[in-house]
Amino acid sequence: MCGIVGGVTNKDITALLLEGLNRLEYRGYDSSGLIVLSKNNSFDRIRSVGKVRNLENILKAREQKISGNIGIAHTRWATHGEPSIDNAHPHISMNSVSLVHNGIIENYIDLKNEQLNRGYSFSSETDTEVIAHAIDFAMKSCNTLISSVQLAIKSFSGSYGLGVISSKYPDQIIATRKGSPLVIGIGTNGNYIASDQMALLSVTKEFIFLEEGDVAEIKIDKITIYDLNGNLVVRPIKISMLKAGSVDLGNYDHFMQKEIFEQPQAIRDTLESRITNDSIVISAFGFKAEKKFNKVKQVQIIACGSSYNAGLVAKYWLEDIAKIPCNVEVASEYRYRRPIILNDTLFVTLSQSGETADTVEALKAAKIINCNICTLCITNSAESSLTRLSDLTFLTHAGPEIGVASTKAFTTQLVSLALLACSIGKLQNTINRSQEKSIINGLKKLPGLIHKALHQEEKIKKLATRFQNKNSALFLGRGTMHAIAMEGALKLKEISYIHAEAYPAGELKHGPIALIDKDMPVIAIAPNDELLEKLKSNLQEVKSRGSQMIVFEDENSLIEPMEAMEVISITSNVGRITAPIIFTIPLQLLSYHVALSKGTDVDRPRNLAKSVTVE
Ligand code: F6R
Repeated sequence: MCGIVGGVTNKDITALLLEGLNRLEYRGYDSSGLIVLSKNNSFDRIRSVGKVRNLENILKAREQKISGNIGIAHTRWATHGEPSIDNAHPHISMNSVSLVHNGIIENYIDLKNEQLNRGYSFSSETDTEVIAHAIDFAMKSCNTLISSVQLAIKSFSGSYGLGVISSKYPDQIIATRKGSPLVIGIGTNGNYIASDQMALLSVTKEFIFLEEGDVAEIKIDKITIYDLNGNLVVRPIKISMLKAGSVDLGNYDHFMQKEIFEQPQAIRDTLESRITNDSIVISAFGFKAEKKFNKVKQVQIIACGSSYNAGLVAKYWLEDIAKIPCNVEVASEYRYRRPIILNDTLFVTLSQSGETADTVEALKAAKIINCNICTLCITNSAESSLTRLSDLTFLTHAGPEIGVASTKAFTTQLVSLALLACSIGKLQNTINRSQEKSIINGLKKLPGLIHKALHQEEKIKKLATRFQNKNSALFLGRGTMHAIAMEGALKLKEISYIHAEAYPAGELKHGPIALIDKDMPVIAIAPNDELLEKLKSNLQEVKSRGSQMIVFEDENSLIEPMEAMEVISITSNVGRITAPIIFTIPLQLLSYHVALSKGTDVDRPRNLAKSVTVE
């Protein structure tokens, strides 16, 4: 939700700001903008609606090039105010302060009224402009930029990651965060800020991750940080393991395509050093994990979107393998109710980014309701709000996921959750050594099996063209495959804009079957499991209503092809843990190719952003 990049260097900063914006575009692409302090310490700003390439085109077309040693930039996911030039960041107050913001200032209307009374005028509909005016006003009573920011932020409620520059203090950027991510990059030619380290990989691998409420003064040769109580603090410098190339497209056309095909390796990486001698390394969940998992009596999983769908699959595994009750809920609902949280609950948050605002807030709320619970986050982001707030962390090691539609993050979450169910089952003796071995062997075969499933791409691509003129689609599955059907429907909706719903196949006759006619494509998942015969009956019910069907089956499910029914074999005799992971692959490929055939922007679908750091 909005990306910020900035820096103070001994070189021209403009190229880095643009490169950073391109790397952060996954966080929002409603508008973008950048500002530098030019030689005479005056602001030079350009803004544009839509993707970063529009901003680049404006820059190229300008006769007088933008240049400066200090600057900030922003790519926006609109919350308050439509995508427009006026609403695009950076915002300026009184030609003295300029800033970029990621987050939401909830009390902006009160602040705006106060500032109107003080004589400030507003040129945007955003909540952000009040921040600029508040800092400008604070500068009248403070003698440094950092103390002005420290004073101003006291009046805000809500969330913010901020990069602030001032024409009166041309040697520094002030950075602060609360509820939104912000990192400082330490380079040889200067120092930088960004919402995500990926934006700065071409200039540094050394990062400081700001804590909640920190305020930092960043100069070319010096970084000074104060905590939320105003105490001078030293935050550790971490070396990033990410490579600049890992966030490039390589030979692929889209990040989503690249990430679908990276899944065999992503799963290998997630399993690496988590298994030894066909046995799970429980300490991979944290040194205290064994002690905590021994006592667990129930699991609560909280997540959003695709991560929520992964949680739904895990419920089957935790109850089946570990024999403990598991509840799964979307974070945006959970955080606002008064749930009962029993002692000995393992509270699991699932999140690719580790920054999803609803998930973070749900975790905070749960810790207040019962401070005795053990909290575990399963995330793809080592330095994130969730890892900081949780007792235990398990990293998915999927590598950077840039495509807005989650693919490899989802399947590596499933692998991590399978390891979790197996760990608790092992500790609580609900599975024996040979059952553990068999689960592990299944997981180890996954990269090869996914590779095989990816080979069906050409067949799936041909089927995808059928969706070009469709308005709706139904996805069917039973057991864990219902959650996978939900994930398939979500993928189709978000990147091809076709309305899609998932149903447990047995539930269809209780209402939704009324929707079935020749214009309603139905996609069914048919693994060779104990529910197969039931599913076959459900497919007959659908078929006899004239639907066009696509069935992704296990070779041994032996679904008889009928007229207007395509059956594609994806795999052969896989187990209850591996099956949902493998059957995710054809659904990802289907939505990818439907989106391509419709000509939508696969990696940056409309209205979405990768990391939802606002409520
Ligand atoms: C769907 C998708 C979203 C995310 C959701 C949660 O393809 O990517 O539904 O799964 O926004 O994000 P994280 O996992 O970062 O908490």
